[in-house]
Amino acid sequence: MTLIEDLKAIVGENAYRTDPDDLLPHVTEWRGVVHGQTPILLLPADTSEVVRIVRCCAAAGTAIVPQGGNTGMCAGAVPDESGTQVVLSLARMNAIRSVDRDNYSMIVEAGCILQNIQDAARKAGRHFPLSLGAEGSCQIGGNLSTNAGGINVIRYGTARSQLLGLEVVLADGTIVNSLRALRKDTAGYDLKQLFVGSEGTLGIITAAALKLYPDPGETRTMLVSLPSSGDAVKLLGLMRDSLGDKIEAFELVSDFVFSLVEKHVANTRLPFRQRSPWYVLTDVTPGSSTDALETTLQRAVDARVINDAIVAKNETESAAMWRLRHSITEGEKAEGKALKHDISVPLSAMQEFLLRGEALIESLAPGSQLVAFGHVGDGNLHYNVMLPHSFKDGEAVTAGIYTLATELGGSFSAEHGVGRLKSKYLPQYRTESEVALMKTLKKALDPANILNPGKVI
Ligand code: FAD
Ligand code: MLT
Ligand code: ZN
Repeated sequence: MTLIEDLKAIVGENAYRTDPDDLLPHVTEWRGVVHGQTPILLLPADTSEVVRIVRCCAAAGTAIVPQGGNTGMCAGAVPDESGTQVVLSLARMNAIRSVDRDNYSMIVEAGCILQNIQDAARKAGRHFPLSLGAEGSCQIGGNLSTNAGGINVIRYGTARSQLLGLEVVLADGTIVNSLRALRKDTAGYDLKQLFVGSEGTLGIITAAALKLYPDPGETRTMLVSLPSSGDAVKLLGLMRDSLGDKIEAFELVSDFVFSLVEKHVANTRLPFRQRSPWYVLTDVTPGSSTDALETTLQRAVDARVINDAIVAKNETESAAMWRLRHSITEGEKAEGKALKHDISVPLSAMQEFLLRGEALIESLAPGSQLVAFGHVGDGNLHYNVMLPHSFKDGEAVTAGIYTLATELGGSFSAEHGVGRLKSKYLPQYRTESEVALMKTLKKALDPANILNPGKVI
């Protein structure tokens, strides 16, 4: 039998796709910028089938591309153009194996949709805080493999912080089972964390033990308008002084970005009568007293840090505000293809980055449109640029932005990972010794380079 026939036999009828129409969404990255090819998409039912697929591919020297919801922003989950790489989707491995209320933990399979995990936690009176615009279709295996961030990192940390234990299949088919739901465990190296953010290049995640939290109760959502982007950092400082760690989300969005959402996404409208150049969308927990919130806002108005603020009166208003935020990626995609830059800098350098960034873009590509938004409370911005039509190549702009972020102590890749689109920048913006160690790890775990080759390094 050929390799493809062997693979079909492992997963069985109805658990593979070879028809080009069925394959199309699995070989095309979310924004439609990168298209690859594959002979087959495999949908294993359990870890033992993953093991058999990996062993079979390893024996044939065939590359495997693990795929979750394929919502990643760096073309990490799609195969290359060779037409030889096999795509392994975790979509059928989507069971919530157990929820332990007393231990504040749950065990889930890698293909669980993020929203289903949040719902299951809520049903058990617990809270799973990882939240992002793609939560209706991205999978926890993909979230862990990219170390996803989202809107609640300011309070709870990234996907990495939500992980207690992991089950992974290595490139030779070995199952590493570290599926312990422990908050303390110092027995040797913390192996599970090696796979977080490794984007399917070191192993295939098949299950995870996740941390749950007490229900934070109702949050209060506030949309604030600002005279300038730098005022966001000042506002965050004022809020932290009075509310401490009660800030669940703190997102910056430019007026241009919201206007793209209103233009392209149905039933979205900014609730302010008068527009401002920038906005912050923030959630705070009710534990923070109304007085403290009002005093902070008054202080911010007096210091001219904010123009205006609307506090959502109910869940419907809050949801409408968050819909505006979560529709940004869709609005941006509909407008056209922007150069995407997912950078982070220390908060103390954010104002300088914002000032120098705008000047840099104007000098390198005059007439560009800045599409800036993101998780400013974490020092992470999606600092995207729409070039004027006359510009065919944005390489200088990208290099300029990455260099500026690096100079200010930041990163050229904050939350989307590296994937295929940013792999060429890794040796430039990470130190030689860091890149060498990454290569050593890759070689040790995947000497034949069959797990997601061409991605990350
Ligand atoms: P995929 O895109 O399928 O895969 C991503 C990478 O992980 C690939 O390299 C793939 O090979 C690997 N992988 C997937 N599953 C496994 C597995 N089980 N084992 C090993 N490797 C695997 N990201 C953020 O961080 N924050 C945001 O706020 C955010 N918002 C978004 C909003 C929208 C509308 C969209 C479309 C995307 C957004 N993203 C965001 C990006 C994306 O949703 C995240 O990167 C997410 O974590 C990817 O999950 P996925 O299941 O779609 O993974
Ligand atoms: C977001 O914060 O909305 C995302 O990371 C997605 C994007 O950058 O488009
Ligand atoms: Zn983001």
